[in-house]
Amino acid sequence: MRAIRIHQYGGTETLQLNQIDTPKINTDDILIKVKSSSINPVDWKIREGYLKDFIPYQMPVTLGFDVSGVVSEVGSEVTDFKVGDEVFSRPDISRDGAYADYIAVKADEVAFKSPKLSFEQAAALPLAGITAWQCLVDVGQLQAGQRVLIHAGAGGVGHLAIQIAKAKGATVIATASTANQELLTQFGADQAVDYTKGSLLEQIEPVDLVIDTIGGEVQSNSWALLKAGGMLVSIVDQPSEELAKQHNAKAAFVFIESSSRILRELNKLVEKDQLLPFIEHRFSLEQIADAHLQSQTGRTRGKIIIKVS
Ligand SMILES: NC(=O)c1ccc[n+]([C@@H]2O[C@H](COP(=O)([O-])OP(=O)(O)OC[C@H]3O[C@@H](n4cnc5c(N)ncnc54)[C@H](OP(=O)(O)O)[C@@H]3O)[C@@H](O)[C@H]2O)c1
Repeated sequence: MRAIRIHQYGGTETLQLNQIDTPKINTDDILIKVKSSSINPVDWKIREGYLKDFIPYQMPVTLGFDVSGVVSEVGSEVTDFKVGDEVFSRPDISRDGAYADYIAVKADEVAFKSPKLSFEQAAALPLAGITAWQCLVDVGQLQAGQRVLIHAGAGGVGHLAIQIAKAKGATVIATASTANQELLTQFGADQAVDYTKGSLLEQIEPVDLVIDTIGGEVQSNSWALLKAGGMLVSIVDQPSEELAKQHNAKAAFVFIESSSRILRELNKLVEKDQLLPFIEHRFSLEQIADAHLQSQTGRTRGKIIIKVS
């Protein structure tokens, strides 16, 4: 089968199209014939070696941690899926990923694809959608009527977080640059904030929850935006417990864990027309380097899809 693999850390030139054996599945795995994958910033962060102390990869490795496709084989212990089922998943990032014709995934990381989603849309949802859900719902405990600030509301995680938070009945404030203000409103934000137009403190009334997708100064300037007892959840920089205490707030860091439970929750929102990923760019497997470069601009709106078959 075809697989885009890296044999060493480095630039986009390390992404090589190889012909390799179809993966062998374990008894609790399913083999998925890949229809689409998507790009997440973690893909190029792994490629460049930023995560090498955190996840010790055995080279060569196939990247791509979103997948939609069709079940082509099931392990002997798997009872929930059968050959021909249309599924999607955020597979374990310590195994080979989905820039390939086939991927082996643990069955408990897989869910049925909603018929309302195309294969491209289904591949846009898992990693960014699970992350948004874990921040807002599992950790942030967002309640109807609360106010939530979502930084980078035009990005992969942010645009899904806006929709999930609206579905939970929250008032949503989201940030983006001038060009993306209208898009934030289209995703459902109650207040679109232009971070290029001065201090956020002057533009935003206090919130119960901040979702930090940027880190650095964006995170440090966010404490002052929280109500007393509010919470800052970051997916990029571990927030300081000391600063949290100073602002009478709570702090948390989320690193995504694969979850078929959350995929099923996302499906429910899709079924109710409350959630739909936005796809701005589509690339083929052969164009993977361009897809990485697009993600590395930091300016992507919604998601970048890799069409595999
Ligand atoms: N911990 C985890 O489990 C986890 C999971 C998923 C992602 N992440 C990390 O979270 C970050 C975001 O991921 P993503 O997939 O959403 O990235 P992305 O899709 O590449 O985000 C791009 C968006 O960021 C916006 N942006 C850039 N600078 C901004 C700023 N200062 N304020 C507001 N918006 C800004 C851009 O909008 P404008 O062009 O309008 O600025 C663009 O739409 C990445 O660093 C990723 O690695 C972590």
